[in-house]
Amino acid sequence: MTRRVLVTGAAGFIGSHVAAALLRRGDAVAGLDSFTDFYDPALKRRNVEEVRRLGELPLLEGDVRDPAAVREALRGCDAVVHLAAKAGVRPSLLDPVGYADVNVRGTAVLLEEARAAGVRTFVSASSSSVYGARSAAPFVESDPCDRPVSPYAATKRAMELLCRSFQVHGSMDLTCLRFFTAYGPRQRPEMAIHAFARAIGEGRPVPFYGDGTSRRDYTYIDDIVDGVLRSLDRASGFRIYNLGESATTSLSELVALLEEAVGRRAILDRRPDQPGDVPLTCADLTLARAELGYEPRTPLREGLARFVEWMRTPRG
Ligand SMILES: NC(=O)c1ccc[n+]([C@@H]2O[C@H](COP(=O)([O-])OP(=O)(O)OC[C@H]3O[C@@H](n4cnc5c(N)ncnc54)[C@H](O)[C@@H]3O)[C@@H](O)[C@H]2O)c1
Repeated sequence: MTRRVLVTGAAGFIGSHVAAALLRRGDAVAGLDSFTDFYDPALKRRNVEEVRRLGELPLLEGDVRDPAAVREALRGCDAVVHLAAKAGVRPSLLDPVGYADVNVRGTAVLLEEARAAGVRTFVSASSSSVYGARSAAPFVESDPCDRPVSPYAATKRAMELLCRSFQVHGSMDLTCLRFFTAYGPRQRPEMAIHAFARAIGEGRPVPFYGDGTSRRDYTYIDDIVDGVLRSLDRASGFRIYNLGESATTSLSELVALLEEAVGRRAILDRRPDQPGDVPLTCADLTLARAELGYEPRTPLREGLARFVEWMRTPRG
């Protein structure tokens, strides 16, 4: 089926990979991104340049909260992958209003414009953080998600509920994907793997929060992108899926794996636990396997080696 997909947040980490994968398989793609300064916008412009080597990417520089910009970006699109957001747990504690505005109001604007434009398929980025601070694993999509420990998590849960409410119109299939810590080339520079790998490589101290026992399910970007494309192709009604690896790694183990990948010992700058951080994430993949055919393929050690190779490759 020929389709034209609007990717919001197309200049970002996950968005640029999704846009690239869609172009590679022959879909037409349009982008919407406001190039926020959450991290250096020059990195986002470079992401866009890299995607454009694969094909045409018309990209509107605009805000998802702006109905006119969204209407223009949606022209000719029959599907949306909504990735634009204020991301990150810790900064959301300092800016709950800004997070709610972009992640909730922005999603409402986009949903309403998409419905009016006759979009059939709407896939959006949620997060493992909606599960809250839990010690029981793995996390199943049907588990209660009513105890978020950061404004970011609350906005992602609210976004899921907004998507669900649009089902009443009966015109769009809506899928929310709970990403479990994505990493790989172009990862946001403030995220742990990226920040740690650079610090280790440059001999700078690594900010190490807590006692090292917090555990995360890390998901390689190619697996995330595969799950996004499968969701576009198999959308049906309203769905929520976990996209993870279903393997958990402690912070101490992560640092050891990064030392191995970078080939240098880390200097740890030990700090207390951060408010908003959860002790554990771990995806149950039963539903994503059964309904999407999703199967993660990149173990952490291999993904980290690829990330470090990318980090060391000079880009023009
Ligand atoms: N990276 C992860 O591990 C992870 C985990 C769970 C969920 N997510 C979600 O996945 C999505 C993509 O995350 P990412 O890591 O690629 O982040 P990113 O910051 O690299 O990408 C987000 C993009 O959205 C754009 N943007 C922000 N506000 C906007 C607005 N108001 N209007 C238009 N564009 C705007 C930014 O300029 C950026 O290019 C986000 O929704 C994030 O919450 C990411």
